[in-house]
Amino acid sequence: MATVQLQGELGRAFKVNQPHAGAWSGQITMASGAELQVPLPQRYLTMSPEEIVIAIARAKERLGSRVVILGHHYQREEVIRWADFRGDSFKLCKDAAARPDAEYIIFCGVHFMAESADILSAPHQKVILPDLHAGCSMADMADIDQVEEAWDALQEVCAGQKIIPITYMNSAANLKAFVGRNGGAVCTSSNARKIMDWALTPVEQGGAGGEKLLFFPDQHLGRNTAVLEMGFSLDDCAVWNPFQDMGGQDAATLRRAPILLWKGHCSVHGTFMPIHVDNIRQRYPGIKVVVHPECTYEVVIKADAYGSTEQIKKIIEAGAPDDAFAVGTEINLVSRLAQENPDKTVVCLNPNVCVCSTMYRVDGPHVLWVLENLLEDRVVNQIVVPEPIAGQAKLALQRMLDIA
Ligand code: 13P
Ligand code: SF4
Repeated sequence: MATVQLQGELGRAFKVNQPHAGAWSGQITMASGAELQVPLPQRYLTMSPEEIVIAIARAKERLGSRVVILGHHYQREEVIRWADFRGDSFKLCKDAAARPDAEYIIFCGVHFMAESADILSAPHQKVILPDLHAGCSMADMADIDQVEEAWDALQEVCAGQKIIPITYMNSAANLKAFVGRNGGAVCTSSNARKIMDWALTPVEQGGAGGEKLLFFPDQHLGRNTAVLEMGFSLDDCAVWNPFQDMGGQDAATLRRAPILLWKGHCSVHGTFMPIHVDNIRQRYPGIKVVVHPECTYEVVIKADAYGSTEQIKKIIEAGAPDDAFAVGTEINLVSRLAQENPDKTVVCLNPNVCVCSTMYRVDGPHVLWVLENLLEDRVVNQIVVPEPIAGQAKLALQRMLDIA
């Protein structure tokens, strides 16, 4: 078995114990660690869905309290059914720390979530991501070298102004570390307002004392929160494009704007358009439109409500029988909400929306594969964030947990 310590160029840093990785052990640098997912042994590919279910149930029972399984709401049915805890990024981040007795945390979600679980869990706990291909394209849009360059340029052009960096949970550990060592905090879609408020509150009042904030990597969550919840105007928000000189902005705009937004987005939520809201309202008069704040501002202002995946779930559960909801988020969650709320009509806002392809990488066979390896005392696909990244990222995560 090989133990490989990896530091990815995009900030993915993890250790992989793979029975099939050969005898090599060392440090390598690459754009993404995802390529290192070994193909599953043939047996897992030929088992029927029923056999997989029976085998997972058996392995889970044998491992008992040594294992805790966390499942993000976007996971497919064949995976989420095994989760001891389900939730949005914020809830799972807290749940990861709530079972210090479990030796292994199997994170059925994406890479940045498993990294955060590793940072927040106890030293004796091992975090496992069932498929290393499960990344997040939005998190990959904020490359640490581009971030450092932008930060240096902004310090110069905005000299005398205190800038607080805030990163969405959907970011690599090295970006969280950057934010931690520069006095900022992590936020999630369920607490972005509290964290952004904190960034701009004077130090004497318990805040970070920022005159402006730089928000990574999702421009939409940053803009929706600033404009719809904090009273800023669209003109107060300037977008920093990392592929253009000075972010594509002039110095006067950068000095004037209190909200600087990194030019990143989610490709799944980017498929929702204002026209979908108009069409669905026409088709189902009285329907309530609920969307995730990763949708564009133009979509969110047309919706009746917006919130994190956990908040969307709660809004629908709290609805009256016969209420109808059009939901603007990933399709696995929308389908589950429809199934779990048979007294209501729950449809997807965009009939052509696709799954989050990286979340979808995790499936029953991969879950079984990691569990059966644990039964043999082999830890495969362990995610380890090395120091000093882990300690600095923990500062930013802990600030969020203290504020939110
Ligand atoms: P939540 O924190 O709302 O679950 O969002 C995570 C995510 O990746 C949404 O695309
Ligand atoms: Fe990332 Fe979008 Fe998938 Fe969420 S839905 S994990 S933001 S790619």
